Amino acid sequence: MQEKQVTKAIFPVAGLGTRFLPATKASPKEMLPIVDKPLIQYVVEEAVKAGITELVFVTSSSKRAIEDHFDTNYELEQRLQQQGKTELLEMVQNIVPKGVDCIYVRQPQALGLGHAVLCARQVIGEHPFAVLLADDLIDASVSCLEQMMTCYHETHASVIAVQEIAKADSEKYGVIDVAKNWSGQGPINAIVEKPKPTEAPSQYGVVGRYLLTPEIFHHLAKLPPGRGGEIQLTDAIARLLNEQKVMALAFDGTRYDCGSKLGYMQAMITLGLKHPELGADFKHYLQNLIF
Ligand code: UTP
Repeated sequence: MQEKQVTKAIFPVAGLGTRFLPATKASPKEMLPIVDKPLIQYVVEEAVKAGITELVFVTSSSKRAIEDHFDTNYELEQRLQQQGKTELLEMVQNIVPKGVDCIYVRQPQALGLGHAVLCARQVIGEHPFAVLLADDLIDASVSCLEQMMTCYHETHASVIAVQEIAKADSEKYGVIDVAKNWSGQGPINAIVEKPKPTEAPSQYGVVGRYLLTPEIFHHLAKLPPGRGGEIQLTDAIARLLNEQKVMALAFDGTRYDCGSKLGYMQAMITLGLKHPELGADFKHYLQNLIF
């Protein structure tokens, strides 16, 4: 089979963020900062580092701040230039590196993650592509998407990122079924969206990174609403499984569910402690606070 490079990524950012109200009433959850960078910038950096050059944002009317963040701000740049703040100037000018394009597609109604991905179909065409969810921040020495790319190049199959979850949490995840002796990377037998703990086929839950072959769109286009009345990406992957191999990868790294308040606070603390300028002072502060 001829290998196709993965150069396009979809960032679905049109959800309502109800778990993070009231902060997300008028501001996009994807713009919540971890220390000094919004969540969406972390996943964009992860994608670009893994070789993605076309960033496709599936957005909605209440998410304009995301477009502004990745656009030029002439007034700010001029001011920084006049003030000789060249480091800051370079930082804001390189949020989107040269050679990388941003494309915006609207999801008119929040009909689910699967529907959001389907909205980008025309832009993706017949290419394999990545999907990254900004609210899943993954801290890893080799990024999660790079680990998935390696798996994709070995198998030419769709790859979904998974992590071990508590059985009681299965209703928050898509859950995969894998062979009994599964070692952290391999084909899946089945996938179900948010099963009851008693019905969960394994303790591996899907997190917000997918590498998908374009055939997924055929299934998304025909799907009826699933769990919660939404068009579920998980259901389309289940149908794709009838015709293609789909791999799961238990990546090396720590994932923070920044769509939940607790996960967001955990990410802020961990990345705050690792921050090159603030980490030492922050650690000192926390030590005094706790002991
Ligand atoms: P979530 O279910 O985590 O996001 O969807 P949400 O709906 O915004 O948040 P809650 O559950 O109400 O708190 C995962 C990702 O898919 C996007 C979201 O923006 C998020 O990044 N999404 C979800 C869409 O783009 N469109 C949708 O219709 C649903």
